Amino acid sequence: MPIVPKFARPREGDRGRRAGPASTVGQVKGFASDNNAGAHPEVLAALAEANAEHATAYGDDPWTARAKELLRAHFGKQSVSYLVFNGSAANVLCFRALCRPWQSVICTAQAHVNVDEGGAPESLAGVKLQAVQTHDAKLTPEHVEWQLDRLGDQHAVQPRLVSVTQSTELGTRYEPYELHALAHFAHERGLLLHVDGARLANAAAGLDVSLREITTDVGVDAVSFGGTKNGLLMGEAVVFCDPVHAEGFAFLRKQTLQLASKGRFLASQFVALLEGDLWRRSAVHANAMAARLADALLSVPGVRLTQPVQANGVFAILPPGATERVRADWRFYTWDESTSEVRLMCSWDTTPAEVDAFAADVAHAGETARTGA
Ligand SMILES: Cc1ncc(COP(=O)(O)O)c(C=O)c1O
Repeated sequence: MPIVPKFARPREGDRGRRAGPASTVGQVKGFASDNNAGAHPEVLAALAEANAEHATAYGDDPWTARAKELLRAHFGKQSVSYLVFNGSAANVLCFRALCRPWQSVICTAQAHVNVDEGGAPESLAGVKLQAVQTHDAKLTPEHVEWQLDRLGDQHAVQPRLVSVTQSTELGTRYEPYELHALAHFAHERGLLLHVDGARLANAAAGLDVSLREITTDVGVDAVSFGGTKNGLLMGEAVVFCDPVHAEGFAFLRKQTLQLASKGRFLASQFVALLEGDLWRRSAVHANAMAARLADALLSVPGVRLTQPVQANGVFAILPPGATERVRADWRFYTWDESTSEVRLMCSWDTTPAEVDAFAADVAHAGETARTGA
């Protein structure tokens, strides 16, 4: 018998005020969030295997050693990585490591760090966020330049870090040359580049490049590399592409309450994700489901896509009246109440049948709303 929380509200890092159905367990899967998917069976198998014996705590175990080795293989042999429980902590820890108290982080207005981390960057990392309005959740060197007019002025907060999200909160992604341009510009002006890579795997899969080619190779300094949205039970990695930025990080992680005692259970999941091609396989699948969903919705009269579909999310405006009708059977969020834009996320376990059934329901709901039948 599934347990149905009575008064649960939308979660998964999504703002509660966004319209969506109450959380339920056992309901049809839907497109609310890639965090709503469970853990991949290969990850669960790796966890079971790591559970067989005792192992030394706090990361001094063979799984952590192997996970770090794999992260070096994926991000460059000079890189240094640390595992943490969740993505907000990975971001906050990057900010703590890279910024001093008088410094700031330039990000987009849509950035998760700006709108979905409960003020943790400001409160826990003690940095000011300089949020830039963009139409596609992507920063350019020009956006950054506009924030630098008071560099060296002791009365003004001093920008230190540019933080971009790859793939972005609006399902768009940066090309490698765009990241390279940002890194080059940031470094020229004495700043560093951080990537919130909660969905880095989806970007790499979509671009058909390695993780390294969109981070270390283009000049990124630090990455919050996501595992949870790509099939882990939980777990993210903080990756410093250049070890110089990792100094003291073990102490910061402990002080920020992110050092797992049974570290092997974070690490064994990363081993499962990175040893073979699970990270890419899952991301390719989620992206393919989003592309299929976008295609199917585009054939429905009255549907408009609001962003290019470049990862595992589809942002769209559905035909008048359709959103509320399909919401009875499907989970998803209204992203922008003012335009009725909805966000539809696909995950490693989204099936073609679910995509097709949802699109058919949107078509039916749109037709019903139009004809009043
Ligand atoms: C872009 C982005 N960054 C980071 C996170 C990590 O959030 P959490 O702290 O919930 O793991 C999320 C999750 O929704 C996200 O979408």
